[in-house]
Amino acid sequence: MSPFFSILLHAHSGFRWLLLIILLVAIYKAFTGNTGNKPFTKSDNTLRLLTVIFTHLQLIIGLILYIQSPLVKFFWGNPGTAITQEAPMFFGLFHFVFMLLAVIFITIGSAKTKKKHTDKEKFKTMRNWFLAALIIILLAIPWPYLPTAGRALF
Ligand code: HEM
Repeated sequence: MSPFFSILLHAHSGFRWLLLIILLVAIYKAFTGNTGNKPFTKSDNTLRLLTVIFTHLQLIIGLILYIQSPLVKFFWGNPGTAITQEAPMFFGLFHFVFMLLAVIFITIGSAKTKKKHTDKEKFKTMRNWFLAALIIILLAIPWPYLPTAGRALF
């Protein structure tokens, strides 16, 4: 494994926690903002923006890893064999497709939130799209319990 790949992989791994924390805070604020009929403040808007920025940074690192990963290379080079193996399938297809979907949800959710006219609509939109993205991300993270695709928590 090249030092460049190793550094990016560690950054991608650590960044997941930052992304999860900011996403959880954004969803919590959207939930309480909606139920408590609160105003959509500047800090709520900053949280929305930061969530998108963190997600896109994770996407960029993910794309570079995807081009370089030996597991992904094996997946595309030997699709017939790779389809029966957990780790190449997980990173070559499952992780890639699901995380891309989550990035799309966060991007669309953020853009729709911005366009809504009332504060309640803004909170509801952010809550729904970000929550759907969170569920997808939680499903597609290579948690340590996965037999061969599982990775360390840090
Ligand atoms: C957006 C949310 C994402 C999260 C939370 C996430 C999380 C992770 C985690 C925790 C790992 C394991 C790191 C380790 O080995 O310690 C990983 C690996 C990886 N991710 Fe992601 N990822 C995301 C998006 C993406 C995207 C969009 C792509 C591709 C475009 C991608 C491609 C990869 C690749 C190629 C690997 C490593 C495969 C290898 O070890 O060879 N990730 N990701």
